[in-house]
Amino acid sequence: MKDFGSETFLRFDNVKKSYDQKNLVVKGFDMDVKEGEFITLLGPSGSGKTTVLMMLAGFESVTSGDIAISGKSINSTAPNKRNIGMVFQNYALFPHMTVAENLAYPLSVRKMPKAQIKERVAQYLELVELSAFGDRRPGQLSGGQKQRVALARAMIFQPSLILMDEPLGALDKNLREQMQFEITRLHKQIGFTVIYVTHDQTEALSMSDRIAVFNDGVVQQCAPPSELYERPVNAFVADFIGENNFVAGQVTNLTDGVAQVKTDAGTITARAAEGLTDGAACRVSIRPEKLFIHPTDHAHDNALTVTFNTRIYVGDFIRYYFKMPDGTDIIVKVLNDLSAPNFDDGAQAQLLSLTNDCTAFP
Ligand SMILES: Nc1ncnc2c1ncn2[C@@H]1O[C@H](COP(=O)(O)OP(=O)(O)O)[C@@H](O)[C@H]1O
Ligand SMILES: [Mg+2]
Repeated sequence: MKDFGSETFLRFDNVKKSYDQKNLVVKGFDMDVKEGEFITLLGPSGSGKTTVLMMLAGFESVTSGDIAISGKSINSTAPNKRNIGMVFQNYALFPHMTVAENLAYPLSVRKMPKAQIKERVAQYLELVELSAFGDRRPGQLSGGQKQRVALARAMIFQPSLILMDEPLGALDKNLREQMQFEITRLHKQIGFTVIYVTHDQTEALSMSDRIAVFNDGVVQQCAPPSELYERPVNAFVADFIGENNFVAGQVTNLTDGVAQVKTDAGTITARAAEGLTDGAACRVSIRPEKLFIHPTDHAHDNALTVTFNTRIYVGDFIRYYFKMPDGTDIIVKVLNDLSAPNFDDGAQAQLLSLTNDCTAFP
């Protein structure tokens, strides 16, 4: 982790939003952001991510609560006085202007002298590797190039905060990955603070310093990518981030945050999530890459005895589908090397896991 110091740059304090004075679509959002952090709001469609961004930009009012930058409330600051750069999925470039004119626009609005504008535009065209494209109109550019122009236009007046709402949603997979890399590079190089919205967890995991996982207007967990992945606080996060198996069982012992869970495929020990009680029904999450396949020749601890169903070749990995006694699937991901085992149809196997990789949720 980078060290961002202790100063809070941007603060959301119990921010709520209702569009109809009845239902809250953002239900008390709290977050402290440090200068230079790359924060992602991640969640399913309709969970309130764009609404948070719009309130921060000033295009939507805050129903209650407070948003502050450098300690000063911006609730009643006009959008154009907030000094925030923005990038959207649909580029929002001016079609009748050239690329260079699009970049010059935010500067001339801010009354920068002409000669200085020219210099700054050239500098930012170079930054996004579009120096040869200054005279083209947006209609003469590819999707990726348009998005680089939009990015340059958001950065060119050197705001301390840049908001991006699903900026890569319109691009195909290869271009999206390239642009993710590009945005990360510019963020590192220039050091602005980013609030980035996406519903794509891979994008969130690979780009962010911290991710706030939204569901239904509530932040479920806000943490660095590895913590979200390894230590989800609830079943929603465990399910939403990455892939997970959920094994049903019952807690037979709960000591020092470690639960013994009896399932119909065997007993496993797991880290107990918040709210778990002894004797209660629970679900244990185990990632497909954290299960290890063993033969049934002798009994292991922390093992589930399952039946082989099918094996799917996906190139770098092989995905194994086993059946639990109750018929539910349990998936194991194995690196495609010489250790990837073969099974006859209906063969039995043991799936081993470490306590640290299993979490029992109420
Ligand atoms: N301008 C609006 N007027 C009324 N309801 C809205 C408006 N914008 C969004 N909503 C509603 O608020 C909820 C959250 O939407 P949004 O913030 O766009 O979610 P997300 O960006 O996570 O998909 C949704 O139920 C959506 O229908
Ligand atoms: Mg949205």
